[in-house]
Amino acid sequence: MRATQMIPRGFHHWRDISFGSSQIVPNWVARSPAGHDNCVYDPLPHSTSPLISPTLMTSPSAAPILPSKHLLGIEGLSPFDVTALLDLAETYVVQGRATDKKTALLRGRTLINLFFEASTRTQSSFELAGKRLGADVLNMSVKTSSVSKGETLIDTASTLNAMRPDILVVRHQDAGAALLLSQKLDCSVINAGDGAHEHPTQALLDALTIRRRLGGFENLVVAICGDVLHSRVARSNLHLLSMMGARVRLVAPRTLLPADAERFGVEIHTDMKTGLAGADIVMMLRLQLERMSGAFVPSAREYFRFYGLDRAKLAYAKPGALVMHPGPMNRGVEIASDIADDVQVSLISEQVEMGVAIRMAILDALSRGLS
Ligand code: NCD
Repeated sequence: MRATQMIPRGFHHWRDISFGSSQIVPNWVARSPAGHDNCVYDPLPHSTSPLISPTLMTSPSAAPILPSKHLLGIEGLSPFDVTALLDLAETYVVQGRATDKKTALLRGRTLINLFFEASTRTQSSFELAGKRLGADVLNMSVKTSSVSKGETLIDTASTLNAMRPDILVVRHQDAGAALLLSQKLDCSVINAGDGAHEHPTQALLDALTIRRRLGGFENLVVAICGDVLHSRVARSNLHLLSMMGARVRLVAPRTLLPADAERFGVEIHTDMKTGLAGADIVMMLRLQLERMSGAFVPSAREYFRFYGLDRAKLAYAKPGALVMHPGPMNRGVEIASDIADDVQVSLISEQVEMGVAIRMAILDALSRGLS
């Protein structure tokens, strides 16, 4: 059962997505459904928790959770879909901490990790998630594929299709690549990052980390700081967090904000002092030098001075504020080492653990739609 009547009207959308473009028309005004705020969070699903989605409460374990067989972005997900995935992931957090971490849920299924960009944590996270669910996992990176010999994405897609995978996880430098593959292949496609467009599994793992620590999202102030312009993490996160009722701020120098950033419908700050004031969560972004075609910041040292998170800047946030970073980090550029390594404030290791759990939940959820 999908409680469509409770899904807020008017949130999202990414529109006009095409290769190389990441244009957003942000008309989201969503707040999470009534009853999601101010509740005490119980990390394991049971029928009385107000955070458990109706989908999960009323369905047997193999019932569909997601509206599509693909996960291409946060766009297209409702607050209930997000909550259902987070609830399901809680069971995988428990499984990941058990001695026997393996189930046979995806036994016989083939998962292909197709990565056109370098990745350590996302690729290994999906590999571990697939293996823990019993799938056969094949890792393909661009260096070992024929793409480096001039093959097109479509050719790669039809070659892969002939191998009859069940799930394809794809990371690509161009916005829209995952969407294109989902239209050409028979299997489920998961977007593991397409250009500067979306990185839905990162936003979902961040949401799981936040919900476990702070109990929910309603009225949380989340400051997303740094290279917003080139960041798919920022886009997926601001979409998800706004949809779930958080108050999102983007904090960056003008040169690292999209020209039309105001249209995102969130607060924009160019100063860390006002941007971090009263924030519950400070989410730092990597300076994505590989995506920059010119000088966006005068120097790394200058950038750290004004936008790098150190103790003095963290003091602007709410006392007890928590720090996140999707990794990989540029220590001493966007974040000081002592903050990154301080387990009292840094959720960075927890994000990695939650990454495996949420990816298991996503693989589980998508596999329910497979024939
Ligand atoms: C992010 C990415 O690839 O977009 N990293 C990740 O998924 N672990 C963020 C980044 O590269 O800075």
